[in-house]
Amino acid sequence: ASDFSLQGRAAGKVVILGAGVAGLTAAYELGKAGYDCTLLEARGKAGGRNLTLRGGDRLTELNGPAQQVTFGERAYFNAGPARIAPWMVTLDYCRELGIPIETFVNRNAHAYVHTSGQTVRSGAARADMYGYVAELLAKATDLGALDKKLTRDDRERLLEFLTRFGDLGPKLDYEGSSRRGYAELPGLDAGAPLGAPGTLSQVLAAGTGRAITNDFGYEQATPMFQPVGGMDAIVTGLVEAVGADRIRTGAQVTQITSLADGVEVTWRGGRMKADYCVATLPPHVLAKIPHNLGEPVTAALRTPVPVAAGKIGLEYGRRWWEIEDRIYGGITETDLDITHIWYPSHDYHAARGVVVGYYNTGAEAELYGALTPEDRRRRALTQGKKIHGEKYRADVLSAASIAWERQEHIQGGWVRWPVIDSSFTLLQRPSARVYFAGDWLTHLIAWQAGAMQSARSAVTQLHQRVLRSP
Ligand code: PHE
Repeated sequence: ASDFSLQGRAAGKVVILGAGVAGLTAAYELGKAGYDCTLLEARGKAGGRNLTLRGGDRLTELNGPAQQVTFGERAYFNAGPARIAPWMVTLDYCRELGIPIETFVNRNAHAYVHTSGQTVRSGAARADMYGYVAELLAKATDLGALDKKLTRDDRERLLEFLTRFGDLGPKLDYEGSSRRGYAELPGLDAGAPLGAPGTLSQVLAAGTGRAITNDFGYEQATPMFQPVGGMDAIVTGLVEAVGADRIRTGAQVTQITSLADGVEVTWRGGRMKADYCVATLPPHVLAKIPHNLGEPVTAALRTPVPVAAGKIGLEYGRRWWEIEDRIYGGITETDLDITHIWYPSHDYHAARGVVVGYYNTGAEAELYGALTPEDRRRRALTQGKKIHGEKYRADVLSAASIAWERQEHIQGGWVRWPVIDSSFTLLQRPSARVYFAGDWLTHLIAWQAGAMQSARSAVTQLHQRVLRSP
């Protein structure tokens, strides 16, 4: 997957709709192969959902007031993508473009799980669930309930593993474990372990299962990574490599016309003809732009459904999560409408820091999105206080929130395909001289890697066609 390059040089004019990660990747790769690219970007700057907010930024919103971001120096908030798995092509672009990366703490046993009104360290929630599951399975094995499935050797080996997995006692009971943590930390003295766990029934009723399996997916691999100084380093790197002068911002596309020998694109304020077009706008936005590519294309573009997503960055004048909670990066999982709280994985021990006070999707994101920025902040603080106590509301210096479904020209966090059907495969192929690209055309929706892979596929197909044509 790494070190991609189109083979053989060519020439030709390409108009790229959208200067998000897909559009920039397409321009970058086509540029390396000799194409003359122009990017049309409706928003004020390149990057799309790869948006990092800093002090001095202004964020406008559809049907809502604009926010002036007043974070202090060095503070930033990745309002869009914020973590990269090690296997993702995104890291290859970081390497190629010389963008320094650092570890993103995705799983932190010392962060919390907050469910059914109770707050426990996520390590403790895991220890209890693993402990009781191991106990049940070990006892069933020991009683011979699984004899049809297990040989005598299997049984012994399984019991040996389950004892480790659950930290079980000699009678295969889970009676708690120092894995849960300590009421008094060990040091010169042995320390005092946390009190005994709840019963199996209580642990199940607490409903921690969802929270502790949240990062089990391959996409949520640990460790994960982030560019130093903000995710938009990827945008800056690509824009520099592509050439800022190739990007026309404030250019909202109003028509796409396929011609016998090219494509004509009209935008508010101009018009241009190119040999090919790569359209990387979100499908629901693209579907509304008049074109002559035919009804099946329109129908296909209308198939994916936008999903709301929102986040708030809370800047604190004191890193209380490190000082008092001993949480260095990572995520607290909750069953509240804020869903997650993210602690920064960089600038540890600095004077200030930005905590992500909510990161939610779907109905919860819409709920917060419908509030004013001030009410989002108030609600996020009320919820977070249930976990962290009064200090969560003290020392807040400023806040900035995003509701992606209310971002002009984007209108969604990402999309969901009701079914991956012929619409998906239709748009993975060109329609006349128009190619489509974006995370929405991959099985890596809501990842920059999806946008990049899709862009690579589109430009590969385009380039092969150019090389083949006389
Ligand atoms: N990439 C986004 C994230 O890391 C959204 C996402 C979450 C996508 C989980 C897939 C799985 O939060």
